[in-house]
Amino acid sequence: MVTTMTSPTQQVRPGAAARSEDRAVLDVRGLWKVFGPRPDRVVGTPLAELPRSELRARTGCVTAVRDVSFTVRPREVFVVMGLSGSGKSTLVRCLTRLVEPTAGEVLFDGEDIRKAGDRRLRELRRHRFAMVFQNFGLLPHRRVLDNVAYGLEIRGTGKAARYERAREMVELVGLSGFEDSYPDQLSGGMQQRVGLARALAVDPDVLFFDEPFSALDPLIRRDMQNEVIRLHREVGKTMIFITHDLAEALKLGDRILVMRDGELVQMGTPDEVVGAPVDDYVREFVRDVPRANVLTTRWIMRPPRPDEPLDGPETGPDVVVRDVVHTVLRATRPVKVVEGGELLGVVTAEEILGVLAEPVAGEPTGKPADFAGPSSDRTSAGAGVGVGAVKPIDPADPSSGRTSAGSSGKPVGSGEQG
Ligand SMILES: Nc1ncnc2c1ncn2[C@@H]1O[C@H](COP(=O)(O)OP(=O)(O)OP(=O)(O)O)[C@@H](O)[C@H]1O
Ligand SMILES: [Mg+2]
Repeated sequence: MVTTMTSPTQQVRPGAAARSEDRAVLDVRGLWKVFGPRPDRVVGTPLAELPRSELRARTGCVTAVRDVSFTVRPREVFVVMGLSGSGKSTLVRCLTRLVEPTAGEVLFDGEDIRKAGDRRLRELRRHRFAMVFQNFGLLPHRRVLDNVAYGLEIRGTGKAARYERAREMVELVGLSGFEDSYPDQLSGGMQQRVGLARALAVDPDVLFFDEPFSALDPLIRRDMQNEVIRLHREVGKTMIFITHDLAEALKLGDRILVMRDGELVQMGTPDEVVGAPVDDYVREFVRDVPRANVLTTRWIMRPPRPDEPLDGPETGPDVVVRDVVHTVLRATRPVKVVEGGELLGVVTAEEILGVLAEPVAGEPTGKPADFAGPSSDRTSAGAGVGVGAVKPIDPADPSSGRTSAGSSGKPVGSGEQG
């Protein structure tokens, strides 16, 4: 998630909080979801290797999630992105068993969710998880305050305590004064704030968002994204956020998992996804992204050369290129990338110009990146990508573009990304 640190206009990526921890909140291993008749005959058999359309024609089954593994760290904002039908909702619903996985493991704080009985599952859903949906899912005949208190009510919290908590949450999401309104008296953006407040009221360990802002107009949507960033900063929850909007993914995500046809295509930080897309599918997604707005000094820095003076200006490792352009181009010395007093690398005009002038990574030839392009243009990135336009992944070749970002173009200091 992008946050403000040194100045209100300077974008930096914190990431470090999530990176430094190795304990996983969620550990997903070899997860499959096959819809259709007798789905278990598909997983682990040659049928599983068939392309989606052929499998459907032959068996009536659809592989919505195909052998997906990943971990989510405490306080991380983990984004799942992909075109419509790529399996995002199914994947995320499998994590709380709103959809029953066909195979694989889902460990939450080390506990195998797939082995949980009904009672345990109910307990987890009431106390540890909360969801925010695209259609808000509010109860129309209940006031804002009662909607926000709903999760606490079904959990059995007393009236005074739940209203107190609900009022705090209403205030937190900026809806004070609307406690007694009904959902249909609120705008879409306000209704989704109620959805956010309701999810936060139960103080969950993990918040799941399934395209929560897709129904909102672009300005309100931007407000709500900023709201999520603010809330994340204030409450520090682990968040799993589905979107098909790349700009939203880059803005919110500490890491992004890109899906296609049920498969994990790439998983990595915004730097990795934009700076080193693993295949044409991801490259198409990130094509029009102004790289200077996403790539960080950590990504572009290099080790200092022995003869280089190290008395130049300093910057942090998570500052986006756009925000150090002037410093670097004006400096007569290499700009030092420093974290906690430690010199991580240096950035010079050469690295900056490499970002500003280079085409999207991996493209053999191409036009310069649109540095000055308005950020709203980014929202359309990938939207027009036809599945037919991208190179299919060879299901027989596990190395064909399904792993996390490779080291191509990856400079010093970013090796801690697993
Ligand atoms: N209940 C179901 N029964 C059968 N097939 C399903 C079911 N739910 C989803 N699918 C199929 O699984 C695939 C993945 O669907 P899913 O809803 O997870 O995709 P998505 O990435 O969330 O798409 P969108 O962006 O449109 O929400 C699709 O091909 C879909 O048709
Ligand atoms: Mg969906």
